[in-house]
Amino acid sequence: MDQVELHPGLRGIYLDNTRSSFIDGTAGTLLYQGYNIHDLARESTFEEVTYLLWFGRLPTMAELRQFDVDLRTNRAIPPGVMAVIDLIKNGHPMDVLRTAVSALAAFDPDAGDNSFEASIRKGARLTAQFPAIVATHARLRQGKAPVAPDPLLNHAANFLYMLHGQKPDATSTRAVDLDLILHAEHGSNASSFAARVAASTLADLHAAVTAGLATLKGPLHGGAAEGVMALVHAIGSPENAEPYVKRLLAEGKHVMGFGHRVYKTEDPRARHLRDLARKMGEDRGLPAWYTILTRVEEAMAPLRQKGIHVNVDFYSGAVYYLLGIPEDLFVPIFAISRIAGWICQVLEQYANNNLIRPLLHYAGPVDLPYVPLKDR
Ligand code: SDX
Repeated sequence: MDQVELHPGLRGIYLDNTRSSFIDGTAGTLLYQGYNIHDLARESTFEEVTYLLWFGRLPTMAELRQFDVDLRTNRAIPPGVMAVIDLIKNGHPMDVLRTAVSALAAFDPDAGDNSFEASIRKGARLTAQFPAIVATHARLRQGKAPVAPDPLLNHAANFLYMLHGQKPDATSTRAVDLDLILHAEHGSNASSFAARVAASTLADLHAAVTAGLATLKGPLHGGAAEGVMALVHAIGSPENAEPYVKRLLAEGKHVMGFGHRVYKTEDPRARHLRDLARKMGEDRGLPAWYTILTRVEEAMAPLRQKGIHVNVDFYSGAVYYLLGIPEDLFVPIFAISRIAGWICQVLEQYANNNLIRPLLHYAGPVDLPYVPLKDR
């Protein structure tokens, strides 16, 4: 059998050129369409970052205003999809979101049109509807009536409003907006790669986004933030953090919120979420579990020499928890942000498509004789 070079997990393999984002895993740099994540975190909004990712440049005031209107006026969920959500309201929020997106395709007038213009229209509708779907499901499963979207609220505020049934304060709105900016796009991560594979067959945008959603759910990817809070609850007290982490590591287990396929230094997004979690925690009297998080980070310090540092998900769970968001909504919030990146990647794939079809090297037996059933 011929010798080939295998690349498990496609580790270190470049698929194509992109302008979506630049990641330097050694320096800990992240750029979206050439703009540094630290500048965007400080100055931008999720709406503006989404426009940047899809159109490749920052919008003018008029363009951003129109894009913002497009999002605010497309938040409604078709009654048929609302019925689907209610039917499966006892499912995991990611399963409900994934199913709702599939159902939305049946109601979208542009469903079969893969043109750039139609993809932008569908992308805006899906981006606007994601928060509405997640919030509506969260209320239905509690036996509460859904809250209608408020076009007077921006993307982040409207999500919190539809989730909790009351207008959020500026600090909470800013916290969600910052989190959405930080999670919006990250190159060929597993879920974006899955969306690209679907798009490379010329499947439509809803199919590609559904592929991304299915992939994001895994705990090695989007599911880590939920795992971080489960870890914090299991540890229970700050003094138990170090022994607990040491035990996990001794058992060869991965500590959620640490390590990264590309970053071998601190994930540049983590500092913004660490600061946010600390500030929000201080406002609420620094709950013990925040101290547990810091003790876990201290206990993981020795692994830095192996290139294992805190990643974007370690503190994002703390921010969501402080916002009173249920833990099984943490991955859906990641999806509410990452749909901006998925659509950016799908638009690039459509624009310069090659069917994505890697090889598997056959390592099994050959030419086995077929034994009739009666003789087995
Ligand atoms: C995201 O790809 C992206 O860009 C993703 C993301 C995005 O924005 O889309 O950044 C978002 O998914 C962040 C990652 C969230 N996942 C987690 O926090 C789960 C915990 N992390 C690990 O499972 C792991 O770090 C991965 C999956 C994230 C990366 O794994 P790799 O690149 O396949 O590395 P590996 O598993 O081969 O680990 C290399 C070594 C191993 O030790 P050795 O066998 O060489 O002795 O590092 C160790 C691992 O055991 N290691 C860890 C660890 N992560 C890696 N040890 C303890 N705890 C960890 N978290």
